[in-house]
Amino acid sequence: MNRVEQLEQLRKEAMLGGGEARIAAQHKKGKLTARERLEVLLDENSFEEIDMFARHRSTKFGLEKQRPLGDGVVTGTGTIHGRTVCVFSQDFTVFGGSLSEVHAEKICKIMDLAMKIGAPVIGLNDSGGARIQEGVVSLGGYADIFLRNTMASGVIPQISVVLGPCAGGAVYSPALTDFVFMTKGTSYMFVTGPEVVKTVTHEEVTFEELGGADTHASKSGVAHFACENEVETLMQVRKLMTFIPSSNQTLSAKVATVDSPSRECPRLDTIIPAISTKPYDIKDVIREVVDEADFFEVHAEYAPNIVVGFATLDGRPVGIVANQPNSMAGVLDINSSIKGARFVRFCDAFNIPLVVFEDVPGFLPGTDQEWRGIIRHGAKLLYAFCEATVPKVTVITRKAYGGAYDVMNSKHIRGDYNVAWTSAEIAVMGAKGAVEILFRKEIEAADDKAARAAELEADYNERFANPYEAAERGYVDDVILPRDTRKRLVRALKLLETKHDSNPWKKHGNIPL
Ligand code: HXC
Repeated sequence: MNRVEQLEQLRKEAMLGGGEARIAAQHKKGKLTARERLEVLLDENSFEEIDMFARHRSTKFGLEKQRPLGDGVVTGTGTIHGRTVCVFSQDFTVFGGSLSEVHAEKICKIMDLAMKIGAPVIGLNDSGGARIQEGVVSLGGYADIFLRNTMASGVIPQISVVLGPCAGGAVYSPALTDFVFMTKGTSYMFVTGPEVVKTVTHEEVTFEELGGADTHASKSGVAHFACENEVETLMQVRKLMTFIPSSNQTLSAKVATVDSPSRECPRLDTIIPAISTKPYDIKDVIREVVDEADFFEVHAEYAPNIVVGFATLDGRPVGIVANQPNSMAGVLDINSSIKGARFVRFCDAFNIPLVVFEDVPGFLPGTDQEWRGIIRHGAKLLYAFCEATVPKVTVITRKAYGGAYDVMNSKHIRGDYNVAWTSAEIAVMGAKGAVEILFRKEIEAADDKAARAAELEADYNERFANPYEAAERGYVDDVILPRDTRKRLVRALKLLETKHDSNPWKKHGNIPL
């Protein structure tokens, strides 16, 4: 065999991973192979593989007789929409994609490269966990990855795509990254599986219920996206990449749009119901305002009382955080505070301007919330908005009550451009609660208690349930017609493109975890 033939032969061998039979088994489960996934994820013909010839060095349990090329993970670089990304894709056909010393070295090498060149890392996870035959060496390999995940946090975007098993300590690499994608039916994540759960807590639970995509997208919040199949999952990753920059040293690329920056949104003039307690869908507002009604929602199924996601405004990628009156009246609770805070911090770390739509009646009352620490968790959202130095704009569509008024990127915590719709109600609390506290004696003394209370509430509403007291003090920069929202936001973001702000020097802050 000459040298050319030798290289070709080795490449052919590497491409086959664990062999035809295991590839067929992978397909039978409705799963793509590690290489097929990269083809879907990356721009055509852009993948450059490295370490194709890496083999494990283990000699235990007869492993020395089985040394497949690549050692269960395909690594390299490629492009998405023309921009470089670093990728690793675990190959379940090789020792169940289990992580050995060499497998971990390959992942670390591609992560180190990503840090050097300032490119996102996208990891496609499909693995039986630590390679059992290698013992503590593979645990060390995981720790090497965890350390790199942590060092890279806030420096380069890190995306985890879970497309198969991900169990035990292995879950902590995705957990340390910025976004977790899962595929329904074929992926799962848990610290301990159904068997262990049954032994320890006597609960009977399926893989899917315990750690499937829907569970993590709606119940635990571990996954940001739950997609129907692998191709959709990988296409969603591509879509996410249109909004985010390559590293914290760069800005997201502008996206071409046919939507006019000065387009009016007359539909918004009537979107707020006449009765202030009636809900409406804040996503209708968002879609009306952003370019081409294209809103890429993140964490859609988790804590729906707050909506977060990406869009563009006159082609500029922005992160949107919005209270959702359609879900629990848009109240802030523990989960929505955590969800919002995490998203705000991602945007701030990666220079993505924040656009806030505010309609919030306050924080959720109750023993459940108080005992589980709404004080600490609510403080996360407050902290995140306070520390963020990216351009920050707020539109108060209706309610801005109590502490939640301060939290939702108010002027006081460095909101750059805060406007209120004419329908805004900015006050310490709603009329009913305020009147009950302020006028209890007067109402009790009245002949017609209900009529007197209604009178007082109407008076309170007239005085406080409007944007003008806040505008008088400069707490909002302007009161605007809803139809003008898009053009005002576009102008503000253009103005703020040159914004510079910073925080005092510190090793790091102490966000209330
Ligand atoms: C070595 C492994 C492996 C592992 C699977 N394989 N997991 N080899 N180390 N961890 C091999 C199998 O022997 C098999 O080889 C092939 O991969 C496919 O596995 P199957 O069991 O046939 O596949 P499937 O039925 O789909 O089941 C997948 C699975 C199961 C649920 C993941 O393989 C499994 O339970 N594996 C062990 C999981 C585990 O306990 N891992 C260690 C967790 S502790 P052949 O040659 O037959 O194809 C851990 C700690 C990390 O990960 C700590 C970090 C801090």
